[in-house]
Amino acid sequence: MATRQQTQTEAPPAEAPSKPDSLTVTDNRTGRTYELEVTDGTVRAMDLRQIKVDDDDFGLMAYDPAFTNTASCRSAITYIDGDAGILEHRGYSIESLCGHATYLEVAYLLIFGELPTKPQLERWTYDVTHHTFVHEDIKKFLEGFRYDSHPMGMLLASVGALSTFYPDAKQIDDPEERYMAAIRLIAKMPTLAAFAYRHNQGLPYVYPDNELSYAGNFLAMMFNMNERQYRPDPRLERALDVLFILHADHEQNCSTNAVRGVGSSQVDPYSAVTAGVAALYGPLHGGANEAVLRMLRRIETPENVPEFLEGVKRREERLMGFGHRVYKNYDPRARIIRKSVDEVIEATADNPLVDIASELEKRALDDEFFTERKLYPNVDFYSGLIYEALGIPTTMFTVVFAIPRTAGWIAQWMELNDDSEQKIARPRQVYTGERDRKYMPMSKREGPEKIIGPPARRPKRPRRGA
Ligand code: ACO
Repeated sequence: MATRQQTQTEAPPAEAPSKPDSLTVTDNRTGRTYELEVTDGTVRAMDLRQIKVDDDDFGLMAYDPAFTNTASCRSAITYIDGDAGILEHRGYSIESLCGHATYLEVAYLLIFGELPTKPQLERWTYDVTHHTFVHEDIKKFLEGFRYDSHPMGMLLASVGALSTFYPDAKQIDDPEERYMAAIRLIAKMPTLAAFAYRHNQGLPYVYPDNELSYAGNFLAMMFNMNERQYRPDPRLERALDVLFILHADHEQNCSTNAVRGVGSSQVDPYSAVTAGVAALYGPLHGGANEAVLRMLRRIETPENVPEFLEGVKRREERLMGFGHRVYKNYDPRARIIRKSVDEVIEATADNPLVDIASELEKRALDDEFFTERKLYPNVDFYSGLIYEALGIPTTMFTVVFAIPRTAGWIAQWMELNDDSEQKIARPRQVYTGERDRKYMPMSKREGPEKIIGPPARRPKRPRRGA
């Protein structure tokens, strides 16, 4: 990286500075001018720190709640052009990966940067397949949950618990430990997810079947009742594998940022990935697919769609599965999923919710309220319909999202650990509270009589930020 040089002068220069890749800023508080290097379309926030009104000043900071315009890392994993609706992993378009690759191939690509050769993929698949079993104590641990526990809560706890089974994973700079953590997390996530489901159902856990594909094995662990050799419908197995590819990574989203933020403390990868699972649980992130299905059920019929959309415009409702922080165009993943919906419905039974979703999409894309705000269907608008057609209950949707996203979290975690520019993530704040107050003994305190306790009604949470 080029050495950065900033010059300070007392007054703004008459002419533009000579360095083409730079930004000249004038601090109108002091009249001083600074030249900041521009690299890859960014200025370094730390370069602002030199801008001070006097020597005692801390220096200028960037204020960016929700990181809407802050690049937190340099990454070579996933490229998104939100305006053009482009998504690429390691340079390969999502369309070509979904058209040709398997999920495990894409997981390898994300983590190691290249598509695997035949022997590489065979070894990778063998290693993942042979680490799908979880320690029997994990089963006991899961049995401690209440019968109606949300499976995402169970997944969160059990992924966190994995760190206690593999204490050597703390050696995050050891390549072998890293490889084993990647294999174990990718291999065990479907097992933990399926066990959480079976626990909810009061059904015995089904152990992994090494003869099946990654997606097929997950379906078997979910749905096998007493078949000696459960064999999933290949159309459904492929549809699920495509869904896994579509959810494998999505650059610096909320959960990946959580994995990187927690991972920056150099905690073990199981704990870092647990942070990602927690972030994914929220309705504005991975929980959206669950919210979409609830919304479609509430709408009941395509005839009720116009009235529902009026409610959205009056801001009484939110059109779940629409809108995205990055895509201001049709989410390319939603386009691929839309095609799969028809194929899956053909292989299963008709679902009246598909008609409601189609009507919602048609009307919203024809309505200025949504087009002006560039609100288009995102990946979650249709994914829930596929999960439902596969027989996966609504509460499991986010869990099924977490399975493939694990590859992305690991790839990002590995990149973080290899990045010499990264340190422990620790944002700054703009302090808005009181200062220098004198401690007041209880007997001298005055104030309103009102006793603070839980409010009578829960206040509505603002639904902003991704
Ligand atoms: N329904 C109705 N209005 C919406 C929606 C929506 N789904 N999304 C955004 N808007 C409106 C906002 O009210 C705002 O309008 P205003 O400017 O008049 O106030 C405008 O569009 C911009 O929205 P923001 O909330 O500023 O957009 P932001 O980038 O912060 O939020 C988010 C993105 C959280 C995804 C949002 O679009 C949303 O809540 N969508 C529904 C939830 C969802 O589907 N999440 C899944 C995302 S994909 C994923 O995580 C895998």
